[in-house]
Amino acid sequence: MKVMIVGGGGREHAIAWACKKSGRVDALYACPGNAGIAKLAECKDISVMDKEALLAFAKEKEIDFVIVGPDDPLAAGVADVFLDAGIKTFGPRANAAIIEASKAFSKELMKKYNIPTAAYETFTDVDSAKEYLKSAKLPIVLKADGLALGKGVLICNTLDEALAGVDEIMVDRKFGDAGNKLVVEEFMTGREVSVLCYSDGTTILPMTSAQDHKRAGDGDTGLNTGGMGTFSPSPFYTEEVDRFCKEKIYGPTIAAMKAEGREFKGVLFCGLMLTPDGPKVLEFNARFGDPEAQVVIPRMKNDIIDVMEACADGTLDRIDLEFEDNAAVCVMLASDGYPLSYKKGFKISGLESFEGRDDYFVFHSGTKFDGDDVVTNGGRVLGVTALGSSLKEARANAYKATELISFENKYMRHDIGKAIDEAEA
Ligand code: AMP
Ligand code: GLY
Repeated sequence: MKVMIVGGGGREHAIAWACKKSGRVDALYACPGNAGIAKLAECKDISVMDKEALLAFAKEKEIDFVIVGPDDPLAAGVADVFLDAGIKTFGPRANAAIIEASKAFSKELMKKYNIPTAAYETFTDVDSAKEYLKSAKLPIVLKADGLALGKGVLICNTLDEALAGVDEIMVDRKFGDAGNKLVVEEFMTGREVSVLCYSDGTTILPMTSAQDHKRAGDGDTGLNTGGMGTFSPSPFYTEEVDRFCKEKIYGPTIAAMKAEGREFKGVLFCGLMLTPDGPKVLEFNARFGDPEAQVVIPRMKNDIIDVMEACADGTLDRIDLEFEDNAAVCVMLASDGYPLSYKKGFKISGLESFEGRDDYFVFHSGTKFDGDDVVTNGGRVLGVTALGSSLKEARANAYKATELISFENKYMRHDIGKAIDEAEA
């Protein structure tokens, strides 16, 4: 079949890699793709938000199956455009992608259907938000309602910080329209785990667990980023936690979306916190995580097209989802200065060392061609993923593999997967 991927980051590179492994893909396209994806697919420089151009390209190439990777196009209804044109598509419609695109929506859904999450209030005006905060328990969490590249969350330790946070989100509109509504949430403590689940709207199948490292600096310091590295599985995601989440979170959420007339087909990403009172939902995303995809997908045994097609067709109950009994670690190589300002356009060397390997991989996040050279083209540049028989081995392999790559202003965290040691202590 002819498959088209919408997106051009590391997540889409991992998806493209799995499509290439599938026995069912005759031709693979990506819009816009990147310099890494270009080795696996024909890339066409169309914006992920340009619905008309994407559809025209899909028709021209007679695409049989479209995979939409990122959050923005899903929220904007890009999956709807293909589905309405009769093209089979992996990814939720906009009316279901809202579970990520509006935190106020997802909080209301969880409250209505008794899905465990932090207590919260929603505000649309500055004065009532500030009045409420004056008597709220500290620390307290402020969240811009809409999509904000994973950065619209402020954890405030003092009342002054909280009041300034309201101004930042609602008055200065630091996250733009995402700040039209404000969610104020109880502060929770515990380990964070991400569980990405395939769903066809009725059946939901959790994948293996993963953990992201969102802060820019070692020791979880610095600003929030899109994600500086991941490991999978999480040693904290025990069988007991899994049972609880299946019963109280995954199943009920998919059933709730269906009951609301918002059938969710695609990947439901459950960001969980393992609190002293049990697992609770931090957030939902309507897609694979980036860089969660870069550790979860390489561990998946199934043909990715079989699973994604079953999500689109509503036949996921026939899939036996299986993961390798191994571990993976992904270390993000970023441009120094990310997530604020950074330079790009630097030549990357060492990429050829990854060719033909099946134990370590380099997934491109922000790269492009400059003539025959591959150059840096974003804050997050490359995700280096390695497999191992244990998390420790995978981590050692991943850090060793990061040494194979060089470019000016290369920056990475050195403690991805450090939690593994704590799990064993
Ligand atoms: P989110 O985008 O909602 O996942 O939030 C980003 C990060 O902020 C999470 O990964 C947590 O580390 C932190 N966070 C979000 N909500 C809470 C909360 N209610 N209590 C404590 N930390 C939180
Ligand atoms: N790595 C977090 C996300 O993709 O939202």
